[in-house]
Amino acid sequence: MSRGTFYITTPIYYPSSNLHIGHAYTTVAADAVARFKKMTGYETRFLTGTDEHGQKIERAAKAIEKTPQEFVDEVVAGIKHLWGKLEVDYDDFIRTTEERHKKVVSVIFQKLYDQGDIYKASYEGWYCTPCEAFWAESRLEEGNCPDCGRPVELLQEESYFFKMSKYADRLLKHIEAHPEFILPTSRRNEMVSFIKSGLEDLCVSRTTFNWGIPVPFNDKHVIYVWVDALTNYISALGYDTDDDSLFKKYWPADVHLMGKDIVRFHSIIWPMLLMALGIELPRHVVGHGWILLESGKMSKSKGNVVDPVVLIDKYGVDAIRYYLLREMPFGADGSYSEDALVERINKDLANDLGNLVSRSIAMVEKYFGGQVQAPAAAEGPDREIIDLAEETPAIVEEYVDRTDISGALSAIWRLVGRANKYVDETAPWALAKDPAKKDRLSTVMYNLAESLRFITVMASPFMPNLPARVWAQLGIDGRPELHTWESLTWGRLPAGTVVKRGQALFPRIDIEGKNK
Ligand code: MSP
Repeated sequence: MSRGTFYITTPIYYPSSNLHIGHAYTTVAADAVARFKKMTGYETRFLTGTDEHGQKIERAAKAIEKTPQEFVDEVVAGIKHLWGKLEVDYDDFIRTTEERHKKVVSVIFQKLYDQGDIYKASYEGWYCTPCEAFWAESRLEEGNCPDCGRPVELLQEESYFFKMSKYADRLLKHIEAHPEFILPTSRRNEMVSFIKSGLEDLCVSRTTFNWGIPVPFNDKHVIYVWVDALTNYISALGYDTDDDSLFKKYWPADVHLMGKDIVRFHSIIWPMLLMALGIELPRHVVGHGWILLESGKMSKSKGNVVDPVVLIDKYGVDAIRYYLLREMPFGADGSYSEDALVERINKDLANDLGNLVSRSIAMVEKYFGGQVQAPAAAEGPDREIIDLAEETPAIVEEYVDRTDISGALSAIWRLVGRANKYVDETAPWALAKDPAKKDRLSTVMYNLAESLRFITVMASPFMPNLPARVWAQLGIDGRPELHTWESLTWGRLPAGTVVKRGQALFPRIDIEGKNK
């Protein structure tokens, strides 16, 4: 039965160069949430894509003597390959160079112009080419772009403007009435003071470059990248086209997920455009922190970019996903280092989860010829582990609903930790020595096997390749009804299940040899 619909998006990435682990983090986090919502009964739609227009792309293409279209086609192929390797299971991938997108952007621009929300004026301002943004003189920092710190140039051009000032009060009221609109709260407070400091009308067209969607009634202008880009979230649903069934079904978006750098665009420009168009606002705009390196923010110019493809080939996709999702605290910045990655893999995956699986399976083989026995009455620490297993799914769901993925994984790993402690407390090797304790041993082994089933079901949206490998060892690969979220009531694992030892799930990484 469907619990309703759920629509989640990532930013659409600039295909100006290959993506790094920062971009991978956002996409994997959105993928995990989407998989989780699908698994828990929502009709889910997960959108990602690429933001292909603008001067930066035009210049990058020219530098290697390609047309912008040839250039983006190649980079986008690489991006799709990366998402494939990361097991990112999107429902749709939108490219802003697609006809379906360009049409909707033109229609919207025309509509806003016709209703007087877009007007033409002459504009003089300080322009930052890398950021494609105009700045008022008062916002410059030591004469440079306040976002990236690079030099700006004084440009004058005739432009179209969107009447942001008209919608500021309405937006503030919306943010006040919906405290969960911008998450986390720290981001929300930043946005509120930004709006209160006064919003100028937004310049929404450019004449300084050509690689963009032309203004429908004046082809000397192209539409400003952010208006073009933000519209992807509804053009991909067929808004204002002959078939707008997806729009009707999935809008408003439940979560627009992104890094904190672009929360401003999503929580100010985007809602104002939607208000002007009479469209409902998204439910949550969620800004996560940055992944930082010891050398600061990752950037191509610093030459410190970490390529996710190299990491996946070296450590495996589940390990990389786990690391990214676990290491980034909700809302705050996280730091990346290969040493921390290896430490996480060795501790959480090899020692804690991997060993729990291998020793549990090995003991069922050794003591019961591989057959899981029916449990006898609960005693000792049994109740504690059963209670924890039964309450964890709801806790994980709560975390995911707050997009606190790292919290969700720690909740699952509390059960992993509890199960390991349970092995130590019950000491099955000692029980095995006493034939009178056979029933007790059966119970302990059953509880371990059932805990493994709970852990694996809950971990599956985060680590999509893990389940198949555990199910084979646990002997329930042919029992899909035991892999579902609804199957998480204690005791569903049938007695008589035959386990089978397999390869180590996460072999320990030799720290000395990791760079070989
Ligand atoms: N094209 C715009 C977004 C338009 S959305 C309508 C854009 N693209 S981008 O390629 O620069 O990607 C930005 C997003 O990538 C960030 O918002 C963030 O989600 C992710 N990240 C890029 N670098 C990152 C880190 N170092 N750390 C975490 N996330 C990072 O902006």
